[in-house]
Amino acid sequence: MSTTSRPLSSASVKDLLAKIETRTAKIGIVGLGYVGLPLTLLFNEQKFPVTGLDIDAEKVNALNSGKSYIHRIPATEIANALSSNFRASNDYREVANLDIIIICVPTPLNEYREPDLGAIQATAKAIAPHLRAGQLIVLESTTYPGTTEEVLVPILESGNASGLNAARDGADSGNVFFVAFSPEREDPGNDTVARRDIPKVIGGLNPAASDLAIAVYGSIFNRTVPVSTPAAAEMTKLLENIYRCVNIALVNELKMLCLRMGIDIWEVIQAASTKPFGFHPFYPGPGLGGHCIPVDPFYLSWKAKEWDFQARFIELAGEVNTAMPYHVVDAVVAALNRHRKALHGSKVLVLGVAYKKDIDDLRESPALTIIEELQRRGATVSYNDPYFPKVGRGRKYNLQMACTPLDNLAQYDCLLIVTDHSDYDYQRIVKEAQLVVDSRNATRGIRSEKIVLC
Ligand SMILES: NC(=O)c1ccc[n+]([C@@H]2O[C@H](COP(=O)([O-])OP(=O)(O)OC[C@H]3O[C@@H](n4cnc5c(N)ncnc54)[C@H](O)[C@@H]3O)[C@@H](O)[C@H]2O)c1
Repeated sequence: MSTTSRPLSSASVKDLLAKIETRTAKIGIVGLGYVGLPLTLLFNEQKFPVTGLDIDAEKVNALNSGKSYIHRIPATEIANALSSNFRASNDYREVANLDIIIICVPTPLNEYREPDLGAIQATAKAIAPHLRAGQLIVLESTTYPGTTEEVLVPILESGNASGLNAARDGADSGNVFFVAFSPEREDPGNDTVARRDIPKVIGGLNPAASDLAIAVYGSIFNRTVPVSTPAAAEMTKLLENIYRCVNIALVNELKMLCLRMGIDIWEVIQAASTKPFGFHPFYPGPGLGGHCIPVDPFYLSWKAKEWDFQARFIELAGEVNTAMPYHVVDAVVAALNRHRKALHGSKVLVLGVAYKKDIDDLRESPALTIIEELQRRGATVSYNDPYFPKVGRGRKYNLQMACTPLDNLAQYDCLLIVTDHSDYDYQRIVKEAQLVVDSRNATRGIRSEKIVLC
């Protein structure tokens, strides 16, 4: 149904569109993490009044006192935002004063590797009592197709006292709020594409919701890509991440074959990349990390079971990628063996614990599994990472380690490169080390008997 055929909602749509146009629409971002905080700043730069909502009081206090807790966001950006209509809060009553609410809360897996929608559900329950007619609610958290319609909308509808409904195609009531799904597609640490140049995929629950979401995102992104439903937008994000996950698994498997055959997989990838069409390079590594690639595909394989469908590529890729940290530990064992040493009792320095280079994100990092496994097999493990002075406790680990300075490298039986941070001087590392096991090809171009690629 077109947005002009329902007089009341049409008026509220026009009203909100006008507010977006004049930058007076009040925007609320729920979840001020790696996704929500940069998004907050983008809207703020475009002169929208923005309220950030988070249940973490420490984050709220830090932001309100002009501090940043994300490495790549300097405190000056927070201070600038505070002086131009941004503030953080943990009081959900703020929702009643907002026009647009964008939800960026975590979507992890539980201990059985099943989707954990707890944060989305908790957010929906918390905002529902404060909803007003005419507001736009957008979910950005990565999730399985159907979450917006089957999980978010029912909680918002049942939880608000005014009997508001989500605007659906064909509905004729004006007593509605608008709902859309729009996935975050950022690639942390990748500075080659500006955030505003990453096209924003949008699936509204009805055309009016799409129009509103296109208008608001169109004010901070250079291109918006409407799709027909929230489920199509949810699936788009999963397709992107599954494509990466499966191709990384493929190249990880081929790396292990190449190692056995004495072929340099990195050389092969570089050569294959010269093909001007039909090939996109993916690179092997010590295993998947981050909030997205190791997690998101399993949202879909879980949902697929509801349809009597086994998503076999996803499961197989998961199997190959999950085995990689153990492959790296086996490679350390083999390399030490060549030096007539056992892993048990050896001193191993792990270089880089972030899940990828030049970022301060430890989530699902293969380094965590690698360190635990090295310790379990009797090694004395230290680590160095310029982004992590300490590694404490997380969802699945409890390491309680402090960053070791890069001094006296000859004291270690083995240096293990897990994350190829740009700050490292690899020439010096190889020169001073007894043995370097390199899971990232970070030592490319350096010729030394001490280097073992794995
Ligand atoms: N980090 C990325 O690069 C990236 C990229 C694309 C998509 N995503 C997706 O975006 C979503 C958010 O990821 P993130 O990396 O920003 O997570 P994050 O953990 O960095 O941040 C989430 C924030 O939400 C807050 N939070 C949790 N429950 C809440 C609640 N009930 N109410 C309010 N705040 C709550 C947390 O305190 C935290 O500050 C996830 O679904 C993720 O898969 C992340």
